[in-house]
Amino acid sequence: MERLRGKTLLVGVTGGIAAYKAAELVRLLSRSGAGVQVVMTRAAQQFITPLTLQALSGRPVLTDLFDLGLESEIGHIQAARSAHAVIVAPATANVLAKMAAGIADDYLTTVLLATEAPVIVCPAMNTKMYAHAATQDNLNVLKRRGVIVVEPQTGSLACGEEGPGRLADLSLIVETACQALTPQTLRGKRVVVSAGPTWEPFDPVRFVTNPSSGKMGFALAREASRRGADVHLVTGPTALADPPFVTTYRVTTAREMEHVMKGLAEDAHVVIMAAAVSDYRPEETAPQKLKKKDTDLVIRLVRNPDILAGLGAEKQPGRILVGFAAETEQLLQNASEKLRKKNLDLIVANDLTQPGAGFRCDTNVVKILDRAGGVEELPCLSKEETACRILDRIEALALST
Ligand code: PMT
Repeated sequence: MERLRGKTLLVGVTGGIAAYKAAELVRLLSRSGAGVQVVMTRAAQQFITPLTLQALSGRPVLTDLFDLGLESEIGHIQAARSAHAVIVAPATANVLAKMAAGIADDYLTTVLLATEAPVIVCPAMNTKMYAHAATQDNLNVLKRRGVIVVEPQTGSLACGEEGPGRLADLSLIVETACQALTPQTLRGKRVVVSAGPTWEPFDPVRFVTNPSSGKMGFALAREASRRGADVHLVTGPTALADPPFVTTYRVTTAREMEHVMKGLAEDAHVVIMAAAVSDYRPEETAPQKLKKKDTDLVIRLVRNPDILAGLGAEKQPGRILVGFAAETEQLLQNASEKLRKKNLDLIVANDLTQPGAGFRCDTNVVKILDRAGGVEELPCLSKEETACRILDRIEALALST
């Protein structure tokens, strides 16, 4: 989570049974490089000790507004000012009511009134309490004030009941914090991204494919979403989970990917083809598993549609089309030829023979080529950071067209 590195996040923990999950949330946020300052209400301390959260955050936990020892050093106003974002997890019905009413009778509610940083609340409570009109009204008041609400999950609760009220998935809370800290430069834009390999079967259990993991495309989709875009991700088979806040379509073959991409591209402001689409597919797919024989098996491969070239041929003015070039030789020559032939605005070239580049790894080493012949060489970066740099170029293009 490069986005959180170096940021100060204030995590408010209130008195619900889900308070125990705050420990893991603090650990995740700290591990992402953020500085985490925990504030606990008195009731929260009935569920989890300040010592646990101090150990995980590496900072003294703020509990009592009038603890003069800490007050003089840290101070609730200073805590409010230093936070880049405030996350209340879990958020009880009580703290939501206090926030809506502007009550400030303890450290956390005082900070919540004093901070100007984005505030994220993660409600967790009994289903009936969550559904109660008072709670729903309080949530609506907070949403109108710009508070970000990470809605609870539906499931079995500690009280034995079933329904909405479980604390949201921690990865969703972390992703929401990333989004809150990202300038919304792509808000209002539809961004369509393809990722992963395609599988081209020659019988029900065997297929032609490549080593693409989907990481590059998923990183682009996640980062575009953080920047506020309406992101549609079309992915071949991959072990990666759907990114939060992204509409994900799962396909298998190149022809399926082509069909979905063509439909989505019509309304897109930006299309990024990061998928490793198979250029060929077996001419025939046997209906049953081929039995091995003593003789060799010869499979004739025929051309798959070139999705990117098709999108380039139909490109509308104002739509930005970005391709990738996966090469093992003559990187710049091959990439610039694809840029021109496929009518692209940018092409991201990666030399698959270079350490840290290309398939499966968490990093990439790319050169970004534009139509004017410009080449931006990036060092070996995480695919998350590479995605940021590619999107920075796309935003610059969007501003210039
Ligand atoms: O998924 P990872 O494990 O993270 O690996 C990342 C990656 C190596 C897959 C990625 O960085 C990358 O290079 N993706 C493009 C791979 C590829 O197919 O490159 P290519 O040079 O063969 O194709 C050129 C462009 O045409 C690509 O944008 C590709 O999506 C597109 N294409 C290719 C073939 C085809 N039939 N239709 C296409 O649209």
